[in-house]
Amino acid sequence: MYKEYLTRAREILSDMTLSEKVGQLNQITITPYTGKTDELKELIRSGGVGSIILASSATAGNDPQGHVNVELYRDLQRIAVEQSRTGIPMIYGRDVIHGHRTVYPIPLASAASFNEGLVERCYRNIAVEALADSIRWTFSPMLDLCRDPRWGRIAEGPGEDPLLGSRMATACVKGFQGDDLKADGSIVACAKHYLGYGASEGGRDYARTEISDVTLYNYILPAFRAAVDAGVGTVMSSFNDINGTPVTGGRKYLTDILRGKLGFEGFVVSDWGAVCQLEHAGFAENREDCAKKALHAGLDLDMCDKCYIENLPDLVKKGEVTEQEIDTAVTRVLCVKLAMGLFENPYGKCANYDKNVHLSNAKLLSDESMVLLKNNGVLPLKKDTKILLSGPFAEERRTLLGTWTLDGSAEETPNLREALSQKAAGVFRYTEELKDAEDCDVIVLAVGEDYRKTGENHSVSDISLDGAQVELVKKAHATGKRVVGVFFCGRQMALGNAAGFFDAILYAWHCGSKTACSVADILFGDVVPSGRTPVTFPQKPTHIPLYYNVTSSGRPANGYYGELSQGTYDDGDYAPLYPFGYGLSYTVFEYGKAECADGEVSLEELKSGKKVTFSVEVTNKGDYDGKETVQLYISDTVASVIRPIRELKDYKKVFIKKGETKKVEFHLGFGDLGFYSENGDYLVEKGKFNIYIGKDCLTDNSAVLYVI
Ligand code: BGC
Repeated sequence: MYKEYLTRAREILSDMTLSEKVGQLNQITITPYTGKTDELKELIRSGGVGSIILASSATAGNDPQGHVNVELYRDLQRIAVEQSRTGIPMIYGRDVIHGHRTVYPIPLASAASFNEGLVERCYRNIAVEALADSIRWTFSPMLDLCRDPRWGRIAEGPGEDPLLGSRMATACVKGFQGDDLKADGSIVACAKHYLGYGASEGGRDYARTEISDVTLYNYILPAFRAAVDAGVGTVMSSFNDINGTPVTGGRKYLTDILRGKLGFEGFVVSDWGAVCQLEHAGFAENREDCAKKALHAGLDLDMCDKCYIENLPDLVKKGEVTEQEIDTAVTRVLCVKLAMGLFENPYGKCANYDKNVHLSNAKLLSDESMVLLKNNGVLPLKKDTKILLSGPFAEERRTLLGTWTLDGSAEETPNLREALSQKAAGVFRYTEELKDAEDCDVIVLAVGEDYRKTGENHSVSDISLDGAQVELVKKAHATGKRVVGVFFCGRQMALGNAAGFFDAILYAWHCGSKTACSVADILFGDVVPSGRTPVTFPQKPTHIPLYYNVTSSGRPANGYYGELSQGTYDDGDYAPLYPFGYGLSYTVFEYGKAECADGEVSLEELKSGKKVTFSVEVTNKGDYDGKETVQLYISDTVASVIRPIRELKDYKKVFIKKGETKKVEFHLGFGDLGFYSENGDYLVEKGKFNIYIGKDCLTDNSAVLYVI
């Protein structure tokens, strides 16, 4: 896809000086040039800038950012194209993470939709809005698998499962890039943070990681592999080290695995300042050494730390870096620029879009992302219910948009008070202190966490609901009224200290522009909830890490996932409060027995493409039409590397009308039944596989398959 532009890229390269080549590997931010526009223009004119990041600080996700300045970008681009000797256009990048002007659910929430078709459509909308503001490249999707919700950046990724992460990766890349990168409405995506950043020790941002190769290949790499297979143009190298090697200086990661095993053809950009961080990490002696090590590892574009531009020319002169190495990196950058049509169209296109269509897609996705965790029958509310609304997020707008919202408008975002008051036909009151609760039928509490508790450099040590909110919940419960909790969160919280006081819990995440509207529709039953947990919800923060695709211990007493009452912690079992894949509906889905068409299949047949069919009948026995996410898990019972007790291998989100039965089929083949060895070789081993089909990862509805 990118290599087809090699010949043209090499032609361009043959006419470039060394300093122009190094300029192509330099990404700058405009902020340091405030008041020094002439200096900036001169740098561009001399060929010193390959790319500009449209962000004013290193932690743009939570720091307020300036707005995009389309006029200025066009002027600067004109200098690159018309006044520099090579005429190579610059590529503008921005962190357009889960929305641009219209804001969609945070990525963790959109994974909860289990609806990649809808996610793809929404990400296409995001690309169109970004492009209209001259943004040609986004630093998204973030694909870091995460098992520690203390890490603030869990909000930005797809959660704890490699298959779900891979499906979301494909959806986002296809949404951003479309089928044709040159088409109007396409922007270049960036799979980040490659690699292992989500495994930072203790959930502390930027911290070290210890990752075995088996874990790397089986859990952490799959989403990146999917992004590469979907044609992602760029990959961002992460800040962290893996087992003592910083990824940004690790040839094993950036070259051997990424290019050798995954077949990536685009270019690698460092995370902000990650090249010079090699010195801070104690991996390089000085900035010159940083540049040398990063280039050698396979890092192409240097984000914001000027290590390359200041050091590569001298390193070539000294013979410590070859011009050939630089040529390779420049060629990759040029191939992406050519593939996206930047030369023909350096200024971006004027994609016209209908903001209302984008908002309605945002609403659909937030409807499907919210997870009904608990309901003792209080929901859905009748139209004439007398509601009393309280809680710290009842009038909040900005938090609903979530972290990494650079261009969305909080002022234009309805809050829950507004959304509910529009829907409630009965009496609706908002009070901060639960005053006069006796007049109401139901208390709705808007609780959760501020968006600044998530995102980059915003980890927390305690993921429970804070003390003041727990007090409020208890007070509400003590009134004797039914209490509905609406949780606005950027991660799974540990709700063991609070869940018991609620009659219903709707986990609304930070779902973007339409968050409050979706909550109101779900509470009143105009939308039937269908989101599923993309992560495990522990009872207590001290149970972290807790994730579903865990291997068995040799001692059965430890049970699956802490499900058995004995043999866990002395002070209580660690069974999750809500397991992976879990979520309630207003209707009732009943499952028939999991069926397997063939009880056995030979390895040879699998290798030659045979698929085995599994099926289940699902009946909607309730009073609402609704969507059900039917999940298929496997367990490879004996393997040379022990396998998890459950691994999600497929799922289908199906719409089933009330009274209707649908047969849901799955087809598993060679690519579904195996795993990666520590060398990264893919193996399917003979033996018994248990196949589980059901509503979540705890299902026992199983069939058996023998691979012979
Ligand atoms: C973050 C990246 C982001 C980059 C550019 C870094 O600090 O880790 O996720 O894309 O900044 O803003």
